[in-house]
Amino acid sequence: MILITGGAGFIGSNFVLDWLAQTGEPIVNLDKLTYAGNLQNLSSVSGNTQHIFVQGDIGDTQLISQLLAQHQPRAIINMAAESHVDRSIHGPEDFIQTNILGTFRLLESVRAYWSALEPAARANFRFLHVSTDEVYGSLEKNEPAFTETHGYQPNSPYSASKASSDHLVRAYHHTYGLPVLTTNCSNNYGPFQFPEKLIPLMIANALAGKPLPVYGDGLQIRDWLYVIDHCRAIRRVLEAGIPGETYNIGGWNEKANIEIVNTVCTLLEEFHPGSDFKRLITYVKDRPGHDRRYAINAQKIERELGWKPAETFDTGIRKTIEWYLNNPQWIQDVQTGAYRSWLEKNYNGRQ
Ligand code: NAD
Ligand code: TYD
Repeated sequence: MILITGGAGFIGSNFVLDWLAQTGEPIVNLDKLTYAGNLQNLSSVSGNTQHIFVQGDIGDTQLISQLLAQHQPRAIINMAAESHVDRSIHGPEDFIQTNILGTFRLLESVRAYWSALEPAARANFRFLHVSTDEVYGSLEKNEPAFTETHGYQPNSPYSASKASSDHLVRAYHHTYGLPVLTTNCSNNYGPFQFPEKLIPLMIANALAGKPLPVYGDGLQIRDWLYVIDHCRAIRRVLEAGIPGETYNIGGWNEKANIEIVNTVCTLLEEFHPGSDFKRLITYVKDRPGHDRRYAINAQKIERELGWKPAETFDTGIRKTIEWYLNNPQWIQDVQTGAYRSWLEKNYNGRQ
């Protein structure tokens, strides 16, 4: 079996569902259930004995050691993280705790477990660390896309904490020989994404008739990947990636934020004929230290492991919009008092 951390979050829950559907191999899912973790995402596998959910922290050494001893996983996929740049600007502490200290403690527990395995199991073991393209910093308009050898220049507390965790993972390979794999992926979108990130926030606000807050001039560029393509890439890296290597994952899909918001509005208007969601677009004060452009060169994973995205942005965004339209209860349930407080904190004062 394998063990995933952060498997009740956006990418994690998509991964767990996809993993069970594609492989059927048992999966232990350790998640702290912060504001971003949601067991509703996993309700379709609640009766599946191949999925074992455990609420807990990656920094809880005792719990991790006990889980490793009990379940003897052949691999660990580390997705647990604080993941939202704007929250890292308002309060970096949690990012340091989970992304840096938590990853360090997890690595320590895993190192002790792995060191005691039989030689064959030791050789086959993998620790796959899920990271982001944001560790590479920001690109100018005409610069080439990030390759795996691009220098690390993280600009936000979030990306700096992820960069630190990547360095720790790398060091555990170099120093102790732990068979690690690191993936650096671009912006994901799809079902179950918490409506603090750009695409689900725009969908939820538009459906509620609220302003669609575009930071600065809206011309910042991100590369977008449909979440299931990311899950497929992780499975492929786990299966065939070379320990110690890093793999960039992206959708070959660079788009300016305002283009994304306009596309979301156009599609929602298709499903709600006669509506005008674009009138809700509101330019607001920019994010401090806002990275201008991210772009991923995903040639290595295609060349060496044969992975490339199956979805285009057109097909992926349509599936995403349909999912949110079909799941109004999910949107309603995540819009708790804490969520509304977050919106006030981040958006009041930006107008
Ligand atoms: P998310 O915020 O939706 O989910 C994170 C999950 O981790 C939540 O379920 C949360 O409860 C859990 N968690 C947080 N702290 C924990 C802790 N200390 N111990 C155990 N569990 C904890 O994030 P996501 O968007 O699904 O991202 C998953 C991973 O992928 C992160 O490592 C993120 O940096 C990386 N990533 C995300 C994107 C993206 O566009 N969302 C892109 C590239 C990489
Ligand atoms: P986000 O989804 O937070 O991802 P990241 O910052 O990790 O790329 O934001 C994507 C882009 O959208 C980013 O350039 C910031 C911008 N953005 C807005 O313009 N308005 C918003 O309300 C949010 C949440 C993001």
